[in-house]
Amino acid sequence: MKRNIKELISQMTLEEKAGMCSGKDFWHLKSVRRLGIPEVMVSDGPHGLRKQDQQADHLGMNESIKAVCFPAACATACTFDRELLEKMGKALGEECQAEDVSVLLGPAVNIKRSPLCGRNFEYFSEDPYLSGQIASSFIKGVQSKGIGTSIKHFACNNQEYRRMSCSSELDERTLREIYLPSFETAVKEAQPRTVMCSYNQVNGEFASQSKKLLNDILRDEWGFKGYVMSDWGAVNERVPGLAAGLELEMPASCGSTDRQIVTAVQNGTLSEQILDRAVERILNVIFDYADHRDTSAVFDKDADHELAARIEEESIVLLQNDGILPLSTGIRAAFIGEFAQKPRFQGGGSSHINSFKVTNALEGASGMADITYAQGYRTDTDEPDEALEAAAVEAAKAADAAVLFVGLPDSFESEGYDRTHMQMPSCQNRLVEKVCAVQPNTVIVLHNGSPVEMPWCNRVRAIVEVYLGGQAVGAATANVLFGKVNPCGKLAETIPMKVSDNPSWLNFPGDGKKVEYREGIFVGYRYYDTKEMPVRFPFGHGLSYTTFEYSDLKLSAGSIKDTDTLEVSVTITNTGSRAGKETVQLYVSDLTASANRPVKELKNFAKVSLVPGESKTITMLLDKRSFAWYHTGISDWYAASGKYEILIGRSSRDIVLRDTVELISTTILPMAVTPNTTFGELLENPVTCAKVSSMASQIASGMGGDPQEGSAAAEAISEEMIEQMMSNMPLRALRSFAGFTEEQIEAFISSLQ
Ligand code: BGC
Repeated sequence: MKRNIKELISQMTLEEKAGMCSGKDFWHLKSVRRLGIPEVMVSDGPHGLRKQDQQADHLGMNESIKAVCFPAACATACTFDRELLEKMGKALGEECQAEDVSVLLGPAVNIKRSPLCGRNFEYFSEDPYLSGQIASSFIKGVQSKGIGTSIKHFACNNQEYRRMSCSSELDERTLREIYLPSFETAVKEAQPRTVMCSYNQVNGEFASQSKKLLNDILRDEWGFKGYVMSDWGAVNERVPGLAAGLELEMPASCGSTDRQIVTAVQNGTLSEQILDRAVERILNVIFDYADHRDTSAVFDKDADHELAARIEEESIVLLQNDGILPLSTGIRAAFIGEFAQKPRFQGGGSSHINSFKVTNALEGASGMADITYAQGYRTDTDEPDEALEAAAVEAAKAADAAVLFVGLPDSFESEGYDRTHMQMPSCQNRLVEKVCAVQPNTVIVLHNGSPVEMPWCNRVRAIVEVYLGGQAVGAATANVLFGKVNPCGKLAETIPMKVSDNPSWLNFPGDGKKVEYREGIFVGYRYYDTKEMPVRFPFGHGLSYTTFEYSDLKLSAGSIKDTDTLEVSVTITNTGSRAGKETVQLYVSDLTASANRPVKELKNFAKVSLVPGESKTITMLLDKRSFAWYHTGISDWYAASGKYEILIGRSSRDIVLRDTVELISTTILPMAVTPNTTFGELLENPVTCAKVSSMASQIASGMGGDPQEGSAAAEAISEEMIEQMMSNMPLRALRSFAGFTEEQIEAFISSLQ
């Protein structure tokens, strides 16, 4: 419906306008009845609808409506499937329509800096490209149903410890390359209706009042058009926050910050235009919802439960398998571990869904095998229960195979606090060892929101990572175990050998006031792969019950300008005997040495479905950004001229095809030449290169002197050595090695500017 929002705002009182900028209560925005501004509701998010009717809270403690818990982000990212995430978003959008919820609070796209962050289960990946792609698809899905999303938590909220006050300290390049791109991609590709700012400070400034983040980057650079809301209770100082670009404070402030806004406008410390602009942004989203209200939408819980199962089937990652999986139907299988009966399928906190039903693996596998169940351990203690253990060992002995359902109990990871180690409860590790001692055919099923150490890895025949797989996890797991479904998930994060291998280990979670991101851009596989460190399972890893062959890597050009797009095509063939899906990963490796960069970075991927014997050729695109790094000298992305390797892999560690492209940069880096600028720098710059090259060779030949052939002096001097010394020599050295006067050096420098 067409309406003039500016006109509407002109009819609002100052108090009404200030009131629009904070919640009415925990979940609602205020209405202004006389002007037809409706009251709308927002709800968590992200992997289900946590609509609270009665007692409201932001930690998932009080009851919400019966709903469907889809797999959490830690699982869905492993699908590497844009279309599927869009489908999940559509289902959630429809649920919101049916329940009259205008904005779903998600997706959550913070980067998994450390495996210890208690909320990693709600986040997608350690990789910003993957995270951005998956988030955009999800947002497109939800918003296609006329429902808004709230991408969160903007920005650098990568731990729970002191999350409401701690300052994340990081350099600009790291911010731009690692922590912002998931948000950036989502804003540019999917335009979420709202962005939720985070609790923490970034480099000493609260995210909730950072003009740099909320206005300069989000709006001016990326073109965000919606409104920014605060995380629940994230407002530090309301008026500076509003001026910086925080439009909506959530939840209600009991009127106190509304009054501050009114006073600030009255005494001239806040311009009324800023308030009007904020109200306009909020009203745009409110009316967008009102105009797309679909009262005929239905919340079909059963259909969504089935969809949750299908999504989890695509999310499950087969980490290890010596051929024992899929299990033959009809075998005697011992399902051991409490999670077989009571799966851990979601995390604690604000995303906690009141599931209308849960399918466990025993139900999921019923009819597939002759199954006995033994609890094996308790989830409320780390201590082994001897009787439960003994019964589990007996069940394992009597079966053809044992499937152990283990992982992290609720108390081990949640919103609100971080883990201090990466181990499973010791009673569970002990149970695995005991079962392995009596049953050679042991398979592990892992229920966890973030990686665990696996000391028993080499003793078990297969490991199936189901993550926090949503309420239908049992059905999906059984289908994978018995081969009704061919697993195709790929890890969206590295599983390190041990937590101290993680690059943030020495600086996580900081001292409470500050946490320094000293590893910089070397997060996840960017670190492990560059350091050539052994990992338990690499980023992108995931097995299948069939085999895929990769061939015919082709680049659309051998040389491109940074303004061009490169097409990369590759053929995948299913060489096994089952239908299956493979995620083809495209990494780029910068060989130009223009900056310190990870040895490879994911820049595209494609998921392909193939029946046995079938081949498909897929094409993926790369553009300037795929080659670039963030250059703080020009405050922009920069791809240097030179060679880049295009790597096609099954994982970050299993590169099967590679080729090289030459890139020509159209950016000329500005150069301030000083007496300490080196010849090397001047030779690399196309503008100064010509002017200094003849002088450089003249000095270089002078430096070599004229040693007698075969003499010890001649042996000590190589061309390489002279070249390197020359390249590292600053202009001021012309004084010592070329007899230049100060004036001549100054004149030479000005001739180069
Ligand atoms: C969480 C948000 C959530 C909000 C409302 C906060 O504690 O950080 O992710 O959307 O509560 O429940």
